[in-house]
Amino acid sequence: MRLSMIAAVGKNRELGKNNALLWNIPEDMHYFHMMTRGHVVIMGQKTFEAIGMPLKKRINIVLSYDKLFSPQGVFVVKNKQEALQLAYEQEKAGEIFIIGGAMIYTLFFKEAERLYLTCIEASFPEADVFFPPYEDIFTKKVSEKKGNDTMFSYTFFIMEKL
Ligand SMILES: NC(=O)c1ccc[n+]([C@@H]2O[C@H](COP(=O)([O-])OP(=O)(O)OC[C@H]3O[C@@H](n4cnc5c(N)ncnc54)[C@H](OP(=O)(O)O)[C@@H]3O)[C@@H](O)[C@H]2O)c1
Repeated sequence: MRLSMIAAVGKNRELGKNNALLWNIPEDMHYFHMMTRGHVVIMGQKTFEAIGMPLKKRINIVLSYDKLFSPQGVFVVKNKQEALQLAYEQEKAGEIFIIGGAMIYTLFFKEAERLYLTCIEASFPEADVFFPPYEDIFTKKVSEKKGNDTMFSYTFFIMEKL
């Protein structure tokens, strides 16, 4: 079983603002769906609210301290240990994905073995949440693929810890 994180970041590890993304990159959205489809995904309550519904064709695990938070179609857990235990029970395809946001990437940073990171070649000074510093930790590059659209150039990296 592999525990992976998947995220898209700006040049300064920007993740989002006002509980939303800072860009709309269809190819990255497609990539996210392709990589996570059929797997267990783990996210924070704010990211779940930002997405607005359970992700289809995935088992959704949402972390929240709020005992009254119980939306349809997702498993709600109250700590990291519960999230991991449930994810390991439910995952049938060999890879669990941590899908954010900032709090949850930080929470699982130590355990995560692989990072799928889309690096966007732009800065977003308005950002209010950031991916944790990863450059000295995920030092093994597994693959790298460039992409671009009318607004942005970006690179899809897959990285692991040495
Ligand atoms: N660029 C990307 O790839 C990407 C990916 C995902 C998200 N994002 C962005 O990231 C932002 C959201 O990130 P965020 O850091 O603000 O929020 P988050 O990590 O999505 O969720 C935080 C919430 O998770 C719950 N939580 C956190 N730690 C917990 C723990 N140890 N045990 C139980 N529950 C815990 C709490 O929910 P309660 O308050 O309910 O207790 C907390 O408020 C948005 O802007 C979103 O668009 C970007």
